[in-house]
Amino acid sequence: MDLLAASGLVKSFGGIKAVDNAEITVAPGSITGLIGPNGAGKTTLFNLLSNFIRPDKGRVIFDGEPIQELQSHKIAQQGMVRTFQVARTLSRLSVMENMLLAAQSQIGENFWQVQLQPYLIKKQERQLQQQAMLLLESVGLAHMAYEYAGALSGGQRKLLEMARALMTKPKLILLDEPAAGVNPTLINQICDRIQTWNREGMTFLIIEHNMDVIMSLCDRVWVLAEGRNLAVGTPSEIQNNPEVLTAYLGQ
Ligand SMILES: Nc1ncnc2c1ncn2[C@@H]1O[C@H](COP(=O)(O)OP(=O)(O)OP(=O)(O)O)[C@@H](O)[C@H]1O
Ligand SMILES: [Mg+2]
Repeated sequence: MDLLAASGLVKSFGGIKAVDNAEITVAPGSITGLIGPNGAGKTTLFNLLSNFIRPDKGRVIFDGEPIQELQSHKIAQQGMVRTFQVARTLSRLSVMENMLLAAQSQIGENFWQVQLQPYLIKKQERQLQQQAMLLLESVGLAHMAYEYAGALSGGQRKLLEMARALMTKPKLILLDEPAAGVNPTLINQICDRIQTWNREGMTFLIIEHNMDVIMSLCDRVWVLAEGRNLAVGTPSEIQNNPEVLTAYLGQ
């Protein structure tokens, strides 16, 4: 059974059909790619899958449950998290605080819990800090942990967002252009990390324009053009598909 399966998704903005009867599936344990020319509807499809935008039509099943009626934070609690094409970090908080906020729902939010179990809460906070530090190390940001997030470059913010998404130990993580604005050395490091996290059991759906990243990471690649499914296959099938080539050249 697929971990994520969406079908018949439609979303119009005014006269533009940004997503036009699209489908996508993600197998558990896979690294699945989503590619397509600029404006193809990839980010909109992510927004529909995670219900940041409500679809006009369509159905999304995650981990065996229909989720298209759920609010996006509920979807995140069920284990599907996403990052944004333009990273959404809180500039006036430290990098570490950004990380800990992701885990907020797990600690210190309940008054009685705070009153009754201060020792447990402290212990949990320490564990979360350690977990945050390990994740920051893995994306090359440990040395920035106590700087303001506002001091990070665009690429570093993307890395922080990815690390933050992993704080909640999701089943599926949707990455919108993780390599955009990131320097080549770090891109290689990120790809290695994604593969390690994948071996540890995490499933990925990745939008990316960097074809080297897509080709080296993905088991399966979906191609979207003008809001519609154009092709799906292995990276080499997609690379050799003349229709895909035409869609890219036509942009
Ligand atoms: N909130 C919005 N309001 C109006 N139009 C929108 C909105 N979001 C997206 N669109 C339009 O929908 C279409 C698909 O956009 P989308 O951002 O999903 O494409 P994309 O495949 O992610 O492109 P890119 O590779 O450039 O990020 C575009 O024509 C875009 O202008
Ligand atoms: Mg996009």
